[in-house]
Amino acid sequence: MACPHLYALEAGFDHAFTVDSSRVTFGHGALAEVGERCRALGMRRVALVTDRRLRALPWFADTFAALHAAGLDVAVFDEVAIEPTDASLELAVRFARDARADGYVSLGGGSVIDTCKIANLLATHRAELLDHVSAPIGRGLAVPGPLAPHIACPTTSGTGSEVTGIAIFDLLTIHAKTGIASPRLRPTEAVVDPRCTSTLPAAVVAASGLDVLCHALESYTARPFTRRAAPAPATARPMSQGANPWSDLGCREALRLLGVYLVRAVGDAVDLEAREQLMWAATLAGIAFGNAGVHVPHAMAYAVAGRVRDYRAPGYPPELPLVPHGFAVAVNAPAVLRRLAETSPARHLEAAALLGADVHGATERDAGERIAAAVAGLMCAVGAPNGLAGVGYIAADVPALVGGAAPQRRLLDNAPMAITPDVLHALFHDAMTCW
Ligand SMILES: [Fe+2]
Repeated sequence: MACPHLYALEAGFDHAFTVDSSRVTFGHGALAEVGERCRALGMRRVALVTDRRLRALPWFADTFAALHAAGLDVAVFDEVAIEPTDASLELAVRFARDARADGYVSLGGGSVIDTCKIANLLATHRAELLDHVSAPIGRGLAVPGPLAPHIACPTTSGTGSEVTGIAIFDLLTIHAKTGIASPRLRPTEAVVDPRCTSTLPAAVVAASGLDVLCHALESYTARPFTRRAAPAPATARPMSQGANPWSDLGCREALRLLGVYLVRAVGDAVDLEAREQLMWAATLAGIAFGNAGVHVPHAMAYAVAGRVRDYRAPGYPPELPLVPHGFAVAVNAPAVLRRLAETSPARHLEAAALLGADVHGATERDAGERIAAAVAGLMCAVGAPNGLAGVGYIAADVPALVGGAAPQRRLLDNAPMAITPDVLHALFHDAMTCW
């Protein structure tokens, strides 16, 4: 087992980890299998959830044709909002309750898949949205039973939502992202067809690719599972169980692939090898973080995205100010990695090397600077905004950003050191620029 020192067992802490994932089908043309897979899961009437942009693309036609060929009745919902809010989710929940479907297919990026998870949850169990959001923001109630079967078909190489039990949305009343995390939310199957990424604008590949990068880095550097209290009962082990040898495998390979292919995939839409490999990296990192959990850059990102004023990213709809999730996370990453590297310097140096950085001669004291530079270098190369200043924030915004990030305990408690509001304050200041 790798890194025996990191995973040294101690009395009072957990001694085991659990591996979960959706069933994954990955490959060129895999969307053609969706109909038969729905039938095998017992579906007769399918709620197909997508967004307006995708409905006009061949991936929607392929999916619809596959469902039709399998003899399924299909109800389509195409009004998913990019970066869903509690208000936009209401529409989807109403659709799901009225559709009387016995299963779901989601086709889209993380916004579509997350919307479908929540619509499935609230149509199956008739709960309120905040019932299952973790405290203190929501009521923290457990999901009471299984959901209807759900096949998730990602069209961006980023969120990993197709293999995780997490759904994120923007809670308008607190100007911050929050979410629901439960193994019950994990899609039954993921059908990953890398052809879908050939129609993505470069900026979307950049943002979603940096999200993959942060999933891998944060899962790899999370608090080790052996430093979290043992669950009682044993079946209550959290999905954010911390770094573990299973997740490490996916993280390392995802980081290596990102080092080779991210810049190529962003720069050239017809570099199909690069886009396919990026989709595979996204799948691996998604499975990894679904079993380890991310930490501080994602916690900070929820405030960065939720309090946006007027930033608009190229390649995204121009009507609304929006910091794409991958950019909202990545702008924090160099500052966080620089600060947290002392908790496992060898891992941080190894991650920099996997991304392609030359770490010969580097000592453990250099680990923070080396990994921060490797990440910032990739961000710069793919045209990401340069830190919080690059998405419109100034130093005076830091207290409000801390206020948005501090309640994200599920994420902050998965960090390898205690993250107090004072630490967050320093990190947001350091994240103003990345290079
Ligand atoms: Fe993410």
